[in-house]
Amino acid sequence: VAQENKAILNADAGKHVINKNIYGHFAEHLGNCIYNGFYVGDTNKVIPNTAGVRNDIIAALKKLKVPNLRWPGGCFADTYHWKDGVGPKDKRPSLVNVWWGGVTEDNSFGTHDFLNMCELMGAQPYLAGNVGSGTVQELIDWVQYVNNPGTSSPMSTWRVQNGRKDPWNVSIWGIGNEAWGCGGNMKPEFYANLFRQYSTYAAGSSNGVKMFRVASGANGGDYNWTEVLMREIPSSLMEGIALHHYSVIRWEQKGPARDFTEQQYFATMRSALHMEELVTRHSTIMDKYDPAKRVALVVDEWGGWYDVEPGTNPGFLYQQNTVRDAMIAGVTLNIFNNHADRVRMANLAQAVNVLQSVVLTNKEKMILTPTYHVMEMYNVHQDATMLPLQLTTTNYTLGNDRLPAVSGSASKNAAGVTNISLVNIDANKPQSITIDLRGGTFKTVSGRVLTSKKVQDYNSFDEPNKIQPVEFKGARLNGSTLEVTLPPCSVVVLAVK
Ligand code: AHR
Repeated sequence: VAQENKAILNADAGKHVINKNIYGHFAEHLGNCIYNGFYVGDTNKVIPNTAGVRNDIIAALKKLKVPNLRWPGGCFADTYHWKDGVGPKDKRPSLVNVWWGGVTEDNSFGTHDFLNMCELMGAQPYLAGNVGSGTVQELIDWVQYVNNPGTSSPMSTWRVQNGRKDPWNVSIWGIGNEAWGCGGNMKPEFYANLFRQYSTYAAGSSNGVKMFRVASGANGGDYNWTEVLMREIPSSLMEGIALHHYSVIRWEQKGPARDFTEQQYFATMRSALHMEELVTRHSTIMDKYDPAKRVALVVDEWGGWYDVEPGTNPGFLYQQNTVRDAMIAGVTLNIFNNHADRVRMANLAQAVNVLQSVVLTNKEKMILTPTYHVMEMYNVHQDATMLPLQLTTTNYTLGNDRLPAVSGSASKNAAGVTNISLVNIDANKPQSITIDLRGGTFKTVSGRVLTSKKVQDYNSFDEPNKIQPVEFKGARLNGSTLEVTLPPCSVVVLAVK
């Protein structure tokens, strides 16, 4: 057990860029994420909107620098027929959302609405194609509808007729979702063959958009899934392979999102930190088949998953977001940053009103969660060069159980600023860390901290700014030694120049 927290930062040893797409988000037709969340309808006169999408959400996500947004699912994607969601809204057929609450939707939010919304917030769209109940032709048509120029094809002509002249040039495509579960309960060998077939035809469009095709990946520690896909699918057909992992205590008994015990907090953090092992082991399998690292590991669903808020629809997955969620976000993003060579995209589940959201809405009100603030603080790492941080940490102990108390990652941006993000998950003790800065000359340090009195604290509609980042005064630079004291349950991002 380490006696003290210390780290060595080699500021001249950066090799890999932290792909900004690691900071991606996810918006599914689930509960109040799209309808009553992002989308309030284009005839809404109460909530300011652009073509039905809330202006306050667009502004918040723009500020977050959301690099990409995944849609329409999730499990929903494998039931979704995109053609039902284009054309005049009053002519669109309804559908039953069989996975999420069995509610009937009117298809009023479709391809145009989503892709225009991505344009408004400056995010790259990530479309998840329907493999579970769709057809190859449906996917070909979707690619041509969104990517072919002008009236060069029947599908793009239809798009123009529906009011959009220029193609959106969508590059990121998911080929199904959770094929091992809600996406068809397939075996990896069967899915690998299906992927080869779909991916062949999702190869591009007449204006040469470079396709980034993501295979439905493993459920947590199902390493055989990754092994089979990497073995059976040539890298000429697959640019990314997914991985899903939620920070959950036990699926049968997840525990409350608020008012949880320290034991429950500890168990959640154990699950969150398991991401390190998952990413490492899936990457090792990928290295065997793809030593040049052409294929990205895409963690396109991650985050905390608890019981729904009492009194809400169990199928809507609505949960509050506390300092615990900030801890999950901080440690997980550190893990992704540190694995930037292979993890090149990720999507937090989900952006609005579902699971570990960055934004919660209640009628005309909107709040930013602690998770939002962590993602905003960490956006300094987007497209910066990752600097390896050799970190030795003491433990956060609870009874006989222990977890590493401090986690961190670092990067250098284009302006030459070194940003270091540190998390202390210890609910009771501050943690001091000494960082030996090598390979550069540093004169100043500044930073921000996100924390609160209790790990159960959260932002509510009555107290929306209870938790937000403030100036951090706990860092001192003495020559090349940086001394930092992290409060209990805190996320700190430092800029060293
Ligand atoms: O994010 C909620 C659900 O979790 C997604 O629809 C599914 O892919 C996963 O099981």
